Amino acid sequence: MNDNGTLWLPEQGSTLAPEIDGLFYFVYWVGVVLFALVIGCMIYFAYRYRRRSHADRPEPVHESKWMEAAWIVVPTILVLVIFTWGFRAFIDLQVAPTNSYEIDVQAQKWAWQFKYPNGAVTTDTLRVPVGRPVRLRMSSVDVLHSFFVPAFRVKQDVLPNRYTSVWFEATKQDTFQVFCTEYCGTLHSSMLANVVALGQDEFNAWLETGGVDPSELDPVEYGALLYRQQACVGCHSVDGSDGVGPTFQGLYGAQRPFEDGTSAVADDNYLRESIVEPSAKIVQGYPPVMPPNYASLTEDQLAALIAFIEAQQ
Ligand code: CUA
Repeated sequence: MNDNGTLWLPEQGSTLAPEIDGLFYFVYWVGVVLFALVIGCMIYFAYRYRRRSHADRPEPVHESKWMEAAWIVVPTILVLVIFTWGFRAFIDLQVAPTNSYEIDVQAQKWAWQFKYPNGAVTTDTLRVPVGRPVRLRMSSVDVLHSFFVPAFRVKQDVLPNRYTSVWFEATKQDTFQVFCTEYCGTLHSSMLANVVALGQDEFNAWLETGGVDPSELDPVEYGALLYRQQACVGCHSVDGSDGVGPTFQGLYGAQRPFEDGTSAVADDNYLRESIVEPSAKIVQGYPPVMPPNYASLTEDQLAALIAFIEAQQ
């Protein structure tokens, strides 16, 4: 199967797709063979036993026990194979692996909203890690909707006042279409979204920004986001109250007295150093407990945090 799918089925984007497709093509080819057999026999018999004259006297036909047994046994076996195969596929579709990553989905006339475990919220785009099972816990705030990702071969009704779920594991980094497949009103047909499957690292990096694209924020807003996400908020207040570390209020441009008796003005370079190398200068009266892991922040993130601190006057 190529990347764009086949005549009958769209591309395969999840671990479930090959199983569903295998079953589909089994039923399909059984159907093709039976169709050809029935139609072929019909045409042959119509010719073979056609009326040859007005005084035709055909020989009496006697049944064949073998043939009758065959058309009882063979279809029974086929139906049992299809049932067993289908039931197993149904169970696989229903039961999410226990290590699934959980995302909440809320349907509403006429949009999808996705909420991640860290509180990040997106609409219209569901980002998921590739190669990891993802379970969606879904509900609706108004009417019946249905969540359908053809490339993943999953479809599930989304109901008000009740949770339903689907799970899938994306197998490649790509963008897949989401449809609403339960008629839900005027804009039902435009109730669309995308699933964007990312590598695990890329997904984590995206998630860290809270589902917000930093390029859409000004530096102070981005800094405010990082202030919460990087847990600066745990030690540094912005209202002047004392915490484990100094407050950010009025910090920018202030004179800082250090434990070793020296002092400096809190300018951009001082703040940068204090974030990436917290032990370099210890402000008087505070314990040297800030962890050094903020050295891994990017230049953009540092600039945003400094802009945020500057704004706390
Ligand atoms: Cu929602 Cu159709």
